[in-house]
Amino acid sequence: MQHGKKQEPGERSMQLEGKKIILAVTGSIAAYKTPELVRLLIKSGADVRVIMTPASTQFVSPLALSTVSKHKVHSNVSDGDAWNNHVEMGRWADAILVAPCSANTMARLAGGLCDNLVCAVYLSAACPVFVAPAMDEDMWMHPATRRNLSQLQEYGNIIIPVEHGELASGLIGAGRMAQPENIVRYLEEYFSDREDLPLSGLHALVTAGPTYERLDPVRFIGNFSTGKMGIALAEALAKKGAEVTLVLGPTTLSAVHPRIHTVPVESAAQMYEACQEVFPRAAISVLAAAVADYRPANKAEDKIKKTGDALELSLVKTTDILSSLGASKRSGQLLVGFALETSNELENARKKLATKNADLVILNSLKDEGAGFGHETNKVTMIDKEGNVIPLPLDTKARIAGEIVNYILKLRHVEEVV
Ligand code: CTP
Repeated sequence: MQHGKKQEPGERSMQLEGKKIILAVTGSIAAYKTPELVRLLIKSGADVRVIMTPASTQFVSPLALSTVSKHKVHSNVSDGDAWNNHVEMGRWADAILVAPCSANTMARLAGGLCDNLVCAVYLSAACPVFVAPAMDEDMWMHPATRRNLSQLQEYGNIIIPVEHGELASGLIGAGRMAQPENIVRYLEEYFSDREDLPLSGLHALVTAGPTYERLDPVRFIGNFSTGKMGIALAEALAKKGAEVTLVLGPTTLSAVHPRIHTVPVESAAQMYEACQEVFPRAAISVLAAAVADYRPANKAEDKIKKTGDALELSLVKTTDILSSLGASKRSGQLLVGFALETSNELENARKKLATKNADLVILNSLKDEGAGFGHETNKVTMIDKEGNVIPLPLDTKARIAGEIVNYILKLRHVEEVV
């Protein structure tokens, strides 16, 4: 009989089994999360060695990191009279993970400097390098950081997207290091066997989130969509092996997966343009965004002043992205739309399926409790062009996305057979 703990359903297996990972910690407040990161990497089966920049030792103690990693932690090119062989370290590793990566280290790596152990190991690396940036939003948005980031991408480094949330400055914004569990999941997905996944080698397009239509420099017309459902769909498609382009409207949420490439947009017109560019190579397109149907006819250059008792706005129709992709759809391309309804749900959804030339429509009724914008859960009905109507029970958006993607796989199979 085998002893040991049985794996509970939903519990992750040791997906990083045998992987040798160097965690390079640099000087950012997010360094306080690295003992937990080390613990999760080890739990996933990795052999972890930690190196640090001198500045990072002020944010987290080397003792804590050596205790959790069970190996000595190095932060200098030499310890006394012993030289730390950075070339050996760079060659030993299956992956180098720079987390958190401060703005300073990012500039050093982009510029090829070599004035500390982290930089030296980075320059000696013969393996994939993952960079998890962490900084305040203003630093994150600065053109210098943007340039360094694209320089690192050009070198082939893999950037783990930052998250949105509370920052060290006390402000809320983008620039926070991805949560340790998301970083580990990212590495696990990267190293998972991609060849035998059902959507390997295929491209998918997903739209998600709201759009903002500017009225003047400080105001817009928008909606309450958070993009949660669309992001869950992008992740479910990526998990099945697809390379996903996620065209994402303004939201604080983000997707963290090595096969998801996010294109941030603001307006319906920008979303339309991004989709037009990707659609011709997409085998599967899922349009989950809550796109504005109308935009202001004119955008005021200056802030609109409060004058009379009433203000009339003139609005013009935006392009219907789903319809326009439906009109140019080639055989073999699968197009999925959403229908957000508050009355005559099934009838309206069927109409959208037909007029927009979609293969599948996901009906979202705002009347259902626990369904709709911002909720963790959703309740949807799938309607395909063969007339099948499949209601799904109330469930988390992640699980619903999984069900929808399973159905997409079924439909693709039918198309291939026909
Ligand atoms: N959609 C789109 N471009 C638009 C409007 C909607 O691509 N300009 C897509 C949505 O992403 C969704 C589907 O069309 O997949 C249906 O969106 P919905 O808001 O339910 O319907 P509308 O076509 O906007 O019609 P109505 O608002 O009258 O229900």
